[in-house]
Amino acid sequence: MASAPDSVYDRMPNDLSAFWMPFTANRQFKASPRLLVEAKDMHYTTQDGRKVLDGTAGLWCVNAGHCREPIVRAVQEQVARMEYAPSFQMGHPAPFELAARLARIAPGDLDHVFFTNSGSESVDTALKIALAYHRMKGDGQRTRLIGRSRGYHGVGFGGISVGGMSPNRKLYGGLLGGVDHLPHTYNIDKMAFSRGQPEWGAHLADELEEIVALHDASTIAAVIVEPVAGSAGVLVPPKGYLERLRAICDKHGLLLIFDEVITGFGRLGRPFAGDRFGVVPDLMTTAKGLSNATVPMGAVFCRKFIHDAFMQGDNPYAVELTHGYTYSAHPLAAAAGLATLDVYQSEGLFERAAELESYWQDAMHSMADLGPVVDVRDFGIMGAVQFEPRKDAPGTRGYDIFTKCYDKGVLVRYTADILAMSPPLIVSKGQIDQIVDTLTESIKEAA
Ligand SMILES: Cc1ncc(COP(=O)(O)O)c(C=O)c1O
Repeated sequence: MASAPDSVYDRMPNDLSAFWMPFTANRQFKASPRLLVEAKDMHYTTQDGRKVLDGTAGLWCVNAGHCREPIVRAVQEQVARMEYAPSFQMGHPAPFELAARLARIAPGDLDHVFFTNSGSESVDTALKIALAYHRMKGDGQRTRLIGRSRGYHGVGFGGISVGGMSPNRKLYGGLLGGVDHLPHTYNIDKMAFSRGQPEWGAHLADELEEIVALHDASTIAAVIVEPVAGSAGVLVPPKGYLERLRAICDKHGLLLIFDEVITGFGRLGRPFAGDRFGVVPDLMTTAKGLSNATVPMGAVFCRKFIHDAFMQGDNPYAVELTHGYTYSAHPLAAAAGLATLDVYQSEGLFERAAELESYWQDAMHSMADLGPVVDVRDFGIMGAVQFEPRKDAPGTRGYDIFTKCYDKGVLVRYTADILAMSPPLIVSKGQIDQIVDTLTESIKEAA
């Protein structure tokens, strides 16, 4: 797409200082910026005109590939027709249709949808719905929330409270009270280089019984986990683990929340992780792939019994859930969501992901023997390579490999000494090879 002659896209901004970048080493970035100015299908274009293969679907979100024509067109048409309408006490058609279509592809009876604008908002919304549900049922003493160590649930106060990444928590004081955490499921000695789900570790779910014994079930509202932990570096649940969590939640009347912000919308070769694992949560948080990231959008899916618990009482004027965002069900996001579902369905992208999985797995594990690699993990079209940290300089090896890959034309995601890969689901086998060849070369150079 040609830009206007003096477009900011054609020149390096004069001043990089004012934009305080999120989750970025600002000083490091601004000393050596990496600016992207265009995107199409599997590629970004950098400001200096290089094509970069997107090995990360943006931030795990552009599942259908970049600037897809039907999605772009739907958003353009919507913005010209009605750019905004409130969803408080008013409505417009698109989110009703989108919610109905989402309910049809959701696992089990997760057939009511509350729209948000991000994964973080989806998580905080789901936690609030869980607390409010118990209160509606006369169980208002159920206020505890259980998260998991190394979990990432966005950056709202609810999300960082149940989250388990200490760098994201430690600056922010006491957080929500009454939160406890399950142990994470990763054990390098027991599961390094597992293909897909590790055999070892289902028993780690039994830690939930310990937490229940400690606090008493009658005080616990909900348990939230990512079915596959993404941001922590693709931690794949041991076989049987999620099934056990489900059973323990059922036994004690705890709501189970799956945070599917990354795993939803085809990343695991099925619409949702719940389908893939055969486990239906009570609430499911989503965002990212919902609108292919074209316009920010998130959604919380609720099982029927939760939704119905709110739709009671004699007063039809009562607002059942005092919660929502000015931009919940924003017309542009809803248009993007509908067009995104069309692309997923017409191109069979979830099925395509399932077909590619074994090729992807072999490609990922071809890096297992490289010098500094201490683990390779994969599930669906997600993968991670973990490195031995350099002595006295943890994180630097991962960063070096990440920048080498970028310079060679492949974008991967760097979290300290783990690199994560999650390309759009339109990725070809040749492009998978390119990702892995570039990584291999870069890993050898950084050995
Ligand atoms: C599992 C999970 N939950 C929540 C979030 C937060 O989403 P957002 O950045 O859209 O707020 C993320 C983001 O990566 C995520 O991976």
